[in-house]
Amino acid sequence: MRTSAGPRAFLLTFTLLCTLLGLGCPLSCEVCKGPGPTCNGKMKTCEDGKDACVVVVGESSTKGRQSVNTYKACMKFKDCYSGFVSTTVGPKDYMVSNAYCCQSDGCNQGSIPSPQNNRTENGLQCPACIAPFQETCPGTQAARCVGQETHCIYFAGNVQAGIINTKFATRGCATESACYTKAESEVPSASYLYFLHRADCLPAPQPPGRAE
Ligand SMILES: *[C@@H]1O[C@H](CO)[C@@H](O)[C@H](O)[C@H]1NC(C)=O
Repeated sequence: MRTSAGPRAFLLTFTLLCTLLGLGCPLSCEVCKGPGPTCNGKMKTCEDGKDACVVVVGESSTKGRQSVNTYKACMKFKDCYSGFVSTTVGPKDYMVSNAYCCQSDGCNQGSIPSPQNNRTENGLQCPACIAPFQETCPGTQAARCVGQETHCIYFAGNVQAGIINTKFATRGCATESACYTKAESEVPSASYLYFLHRADCLPAPQPPGRAE
């Protein structure tokens, strides 16, 4: 450790004081992003309004290229979903993730289990499309839902990938947990940060010939 005791002692006193006095103490979280099922980074003080720490581990396939990534940061607790989310746009384009949100200093340090990736088709289908740089997409293709994906999503907004921020729109299958995502929220995936303007989520239509 290269840090001197001074700032740490100050931080501790400050944290203790604002806890005792019941002030709105800023939270601090581990912040990092990188390949693999965990990552390590520095502790940072969260900006105003971000009252939770999050860790997300995601496995994604883009045109058949698979990768596992981890993301740790501060975020708004009300936008933070703890648990498993799976989305599928096509057989080679999908993402599964596991996330954990918490509200004490450094609580997102360490690692969480990688998400399960059940690619078994479940008979449901959703309109599907991916449109980078667009605000809408037609959904003329059909995605075959897998595992626990019982809902159809239509997400659109902006995506931040490194220093690039661009519009995007996508439709496909998702687990019901994806419905937790609300429009006008900031949503981390393991590799990108999304700002959603549109977050529609509906039960997938029953396939024909499967009458109740
Ligand atoms: C995978 O998904 C299929 C289709 O929904 C389901 O029948 C199966 O039980 C799942 N397997 C596991 C291990 O969850």
